[in-house]
Amino acid sequence: MLQQVSKSMKKLDDYRLQFGGRDYLPVVIGGMGVDISATGLALVAARLGGIGHISDAMLPAVVDQERRTSFVRDKLQKYKFNVANTDKSMIKFDLEALAHATRLHVSSVMEAKKGQGMVFINCMEKLTMNNPAGTLKTRLESAMDAGIDGITLSAGLHLGSFSLIEDHPRFRDVKLGIIVSSVRALKLLLKKAARTRRLPDYVIVEGPLAGGHLGFGMDWADYDLKPITAEVVAFLAEEGLDIPVIAAGGVFTGSDAVDYMQLGCAGVQVATRFTITRECGLPGPVKQEYVKAVEEDIVVNLISPTGYPLRMLRRSPAIGSGIRPNCEAYGYLLDKNGHCDYIDAYNAVVAQNPKEVKVYDKTCLCTAFRRFKVWTCGHYTYRLKETANLLADGTYELPSAEHVLRDYLYSTDYQVHRPALKEEVI
Ligand SMILES: Cc1cc2nc3c(=O)[nH]c(=O)nc-3n(C[C@H](O)[C@H](O)[C@H](O)COP(=O)(O)O)c2cc1C
Repeated sequence: MLQQVSKSMKKLDDYRLQFGGRDYLPVVIGGMGVDISATGLALVAARLGGIGHISDAMLPAVVDQERRTSFVRDKLQKYKFNVANTDKSMIKFDLEALAHATRLHVSSVMEAKKGQGMVFINCMEKLTMNNPAGTLKTRLESAMDAGIDGITLSAGLHLGSFSLIEDHPRFRDVKLGIIVSSVRALKLLLKKAARTRRLPDYVIVEGPLAGGHLGFGMDWADYDLKPITAEVVAFLAEEGLDIPVIAAGGVFTGSDAVDYMQLGCAGVQVATRFTITRECGLPGPVKQEYVKAVEEDIVVNLISPTGYPLRMLRRSPAIGSGIRPNCEAYGYLLDKNGHCDYIDAYNAVVAQNPKEVKVYDKTCLCTAFRRFKVWTCGHYTYRLKETANLLADGTYELPSAEHVLRDYLYSTDYQVHRPALKEEVI
């Protein structure tokens, strides 16, 4: 309704995102773990002059697949004796190996980068890895060592993250941003960051329609990105803080983005429309599931052991799967006491019915994400079929990331455009 009233002929390309005196396209492709926002996707954004994200979630496993290294196998080998034990508290990440994997991945992305844009890395605080401060510091610092342009701190409050890395030589030159879902969370972060005499370079305000974990409770539907963004913009202006605000979550068309620019944002962060692009890391058949989804297929549930609601397709194979906790190989969600809620959920089901283990309360998120079995998605995934061509065989021809990015920049009137059949650029 609001869309019809505020119809605008302005296009997103009329704006630029300014960072340190340089202009970028006002489009940020959001981080999507595990390796959904793959290298190729981030590189397209940078090549065209925008900002792309890679994700640091489960990088040792990602690097193993890319380079045939053995980070996961080595860790499993070390802790194999513990596989049947419900106590996972002794499972620790080798920080040297973690740093090595992160540097390998980030440096290869940065070496491949072309164009005037930037590549950032998304770091989720909720990957506590049985040693929250040590592993987070290692992940952040090794990404900086390897030349990452910026770091987006996400999924968690990150109150200690600035001070964790303040001694790193790149602390003041790397772009540091934070994802918040309320002005309250932003105030807390700013207070902590002030102690390091360094403010965030950008703030991403993520609303309840985003993909991945939500910064809201199960009452997410009561919230709306527009007023939250307006509140953040007004707060920063009142405080005299010139920090670019980037809106995220449900920005599906170029005109949706323009609405946020007119609200005072410096850019938008988008993800859902890129999930079905050829460069996205999801397997081809999973991309087809995303395009085919209808509104009723998109659910928000609490099966993530992080405790945050997670949006996904209801046919995600991980729902109800009863695999044994895989912490010896992965263990990214083990808290500082070596505990993950999936272990409890799994044990409770095994105690009741060891013959048929189907766990519905929680899911083994590490394994599920690594194998692309949790089909996390944004609310507007059901609109993706407007953006792809249906072929005679019933499958959809997937758009290129360049097409989608250009569609954000140039489309007007809340329209989206499919690519011309077999053509890359509109
Ligand atoms: C498939 C998928 C996976 C995501 N994974 C993450 C993630 O690992 N970390 C994160 O901070 N945000 C994640 N997000 C959120 C996006 O980075 C982005 O902020 C948001 O989805 C933008 O809204 P949109 O999808 O409606 O465009 C994910 C989103 C999608 C669609």
